[in-house]
Amino acid sequence: MGQTSSQADRMTCCVRVIVVGAGSRGEIYSQFASIHPERMKVVAVADPRKFARTKLQQQHNIVDENIFEDWHSIVEREKFADAVLICTPDRLHKEPAVAFAKKGYHVLLEKPMATTAEDCTVIVEACIQSGVMLSVGHVLRYDPVIHKIKELIDAGVIGDVIHIQHLEPVGFYHFAHSFVRGNWRNEEESSFVLLAKSCHDIDLIHHWAGGRRCVKMSSFGSVSHFSKENKPAGAAHRCLDCSVEAACPYSARKIYLDRVKQGHTGWPVSVICPSSFPDIESVSEALRTGPYGRCVYECDNDVCSNQVVNMEFEGGLTAAFSMVAFTEEICQRKTTVYGSKGELSYDGHGIQVFDFLTQKSTKHTAHNNAPGHFGMSGHGGADYHLINAFISAVANNDPSLIRSGPEETLLSHLLVFEAERSRLESRVVYCGDTSQN
Ligand SMILES: NC(=O)c1ccc[n+]([C@@H]2O[C@H](COP(=O)([O-])OP(=O)(O)OC[C@H]3O[C@@H](n4cnc5c(N)ncnc54)[C@H](O)[C@@H]3O)[C@@H](O)[C@H]2O)c1
Repeated sequence: MGQTSSQADRMTCCVRVIVVGAGSRGEIYSQFASIHPERMKVVAVADPRKFARTKLQQQHNIVDENIFEDWHSIVEREKFADAVLICTPDRLHKEPAVAFAKKGYHVLLEKPMATTAEDCTVIVEACIQSGVMLSVGHVLRYDPVIHKIKELIDAGVIGDVIHIQHLEPVGFYHFAHSFVRGNWRNEEESSFVLLAKSCHDIDLIHHWAGGRRCVKMSSFGSVSHFSKENKPAGAAHRCLDCSVEAACPYSARKIYLDRVKQGHTGWPVSVICPSSFPDIESVSEALRTGPYGRCVYECDNDVCSNQVVNMEFEGGLTAAFSMVAFTEEICQRKTTVYGSKGELSYDGHGIQVFDFLTQKSTKHTAHNNAPGHFGMSGHGGADYHLINAFISAVANNDPSLIRSGPEETLLSHLLVFEAERSRLESRVVYCGDTSQN
């Protein structure tokens, strides 16, 4: 399902899109319309938050009658656009995805597809039965350097793939922001962390394994450090009231207030003021009253801060994945792929291939020509390439331009659910083999 940039840039007509969920992701993807107004137009938006939908309305000159508080009112109308970008919270993916697919809209659906294996399957079936394209927000598939890893493997530069080692360093303050204080901290409210964060990584491992079926998995993980027992003596409920905050790396004052004071209003500061632009006053108020000002040792977080997954694929290929909160790097994955003829390593920036025969190393990279804001805030440009591919696919009626399509994405999501089952049940899970399960 690969594509060249010239194919992805092909332009035939302007694709009309509806944005459901005008938060961070909805706004990022919508920027494509500002950069390429001849290729994409945002014609409607649905979001219960007035601030979010008004912001998108102003950015894209959307007519008043196409501004909605809720997506149900859109599907009640005659179809009036080509595609929908579903960027709602994790637990609000399945219903709109199925409803819009049945109405004949092509769907860009944020990951995770849904929070149960059954719902993921229902979404894929609805898209296939309705004959619409589905692209899931697996942005890393569109990262040029990560795509290069797949090209090198497929070209046989390291021979047969024997073992894949993959690390996702979430980042100490990123984890505190999203998974201790923020939207993905509690499984009941969003989903377990392997799904919310690492479905990208299990998808990449599955992709690099090249279509081989994963036969068994095991997983371990827990919530470390971010719990009441680790609260420092004298710490307050909120960082702004805390006398020992200066010694805490997770202090909300450091993560948000110091940043906004230095003029930084992008992520993570941008998401803590739900009804206004971030400035010193609104950020201070958010820290005084909202979830992001809470002591990290007193939150209702229950998602793992560190988790490992071991996988065995058909033919004996093994993979070992680690996700860890406590890192300097923020989401700069590190990967080593061990082959019969060489070793390929990726340090989050460039790729190096060591050839066993010549005993020489070769460096590889790939150009990331994402324009504007996408280069800075959009997963190193990968967000741009994902929406670019989706819009090209819709404009040209060519699903082959989508790298994160329904079948393969469903398979990798199902592996995530199997791995989590292994962790919860403390046993090896035989994938898809109901007699063993
Ligand atoms: N692809 C990636 O790498 C990536 C990165 C971050 C988040 N995500 C996923 O994208 C999704 C959105 O995340 P986000 O960071 O933009 O969150 P967000 O909270 O910034 O945005 C979600 C928006 O959905 C709105 N919403 C809630 N209920 C709605 C409804 N019924 N109809 C319409 N809108 C509704 C909220 O008001 C909010 O504005 C989540 O599923 C998240 O896991 C993906």
